[in-house]
Amino acid sequence: MLSLSPTLKARLATPLKIGHFEVNSRVLQSPLSGVTDLVFRRLVRRHAPESMMYTEMVNATGLHYVKELPIIMEVDPNERPISIQLFDCRPDFLAEAAQMAVAEGADTVDINMGCPVNKITKNGGGSSLLRDPETAEAIVRSVTKAVDVPVTVKTRIGWTDKEITILDFAKRMEDAGAQMITVHGRTRSQGYNGNAKWEWIAKVKEILSIPVIANGDIFSVEAAVNCLEQTGADGVMCSRGTMGYPFLVGEVDQFLKTGILKPTPTPVERLQCAREHLYMLWEYKGDRGVRQARKHMTWYSKGFAGAADLRGQLSTIENVQQGLDLIDRAIERLAEDVEVEQAELAIA
Ligand SMILES: Cc1cc2nc3c(=O)[nH]c(=O)nc-3n(C[C@H](O)[C@H](O)[C@H](O)COP(=O)(O)O)c2cc1C
Repeated sequence: MLSLSPTLKARLATPLKIGHFEVNSRVLQSPLSGVTDLVFRRLVRRHAPESMMYTEMVNATGLHYVKELPIIMEVDPNERPISIQLFDCRPDFLAEAAQMAVAEGADTVDINMGCPVNKITKNGGGSSLLRDPETAEAIVRSVTKAVDVPVTVKTRIGWTDKEITILDFAKRMEDAGAQMITVHGRTRSQGYNGNAKWEWIAKVKEILSIPVIANGDIFSVEAAVNCLEQTGADGVMCSRGTMGYPFLVGEVDQFLKTGILKPTPTPVERLQCAREHLYMLWEYKGDRGVRQARKHMTWYSKGFAGAADLRGQLSTIENVQQGLDLIDRAIERLAEDVEVEQAELAIA
């Protein structure tokens, strides 16, 4: 049975201190482009009200020229704690964007230095900054000067297996003024493949004074606990494990605080959540929200009888009602199956 060692419990008992800002949770919801919009964060926060969440990454050059807030940067007036994540390679544009982020309500500003996507790296942003630490330092200095909220960095362990530079890079970020660093234990060339190398996160933790957050392969409460044990990190960040499962951050949070596991949601509960997610996306973004919901709906449709068929149908929904009807029918079928099972058990 999973248990929380007294040492780990004691280590995590105090709030996470990001500069002058305190967070009463040691588990964070990662930024996920195309996923962690205001609607998704609302669902995660229902189960993890004290956890830090991140917007999707926002392009600072885009903000400079458009000068109006893109929808991905929108923050609920009541959602706290919240970080707005920015990406770019220009220290001046990032400073300006950080000020806009603070005006929108960001408690911290996070700089993306880990995105592996070509479109981003060829313009000098995301993980390409690992290969240009001087610019990364200039960015952190410029942004910390521009805002009075803590500035944090999210990055990877290096560019390739032969170029793991995180120890030097992380120290430079701390020295430049970053107040927290999140390390995804993969290289840029790994993309999302292979295992996250948590051992490098442990090494980073050994040499920094600012909080270090471990990221990569946290798909369960057990993985979160193992990662915290193995790395000595100050917290963990959940990512792909939350896609179609906005319960994960809350499950980890409760376990780290109490040592008690939350009951796993039943398939019906997961589908009820999917239904709400779809409806909220439609309310918030109209038909565009329904198109965006398709992928979410397929992630929810896993691990129960009929899931594959439902997944196929939900992946092509044209309007909100069609999606709601499909989910309602699936919920009815699952509820009937449970009734039959219970009747059979009663007879046996
Ligand atoms: C669909 C998708 C979108 C992502 N978008 C972002 C992003 O906007 N900003 C960021 O820092 N990382 C982003 N990431 C990376 C994750 O935050 C995380 O670092 C990575 O998935 C590793 O964690 P995991 O192995 O637990 O998924 C994204 C990852 C995925 C799969």
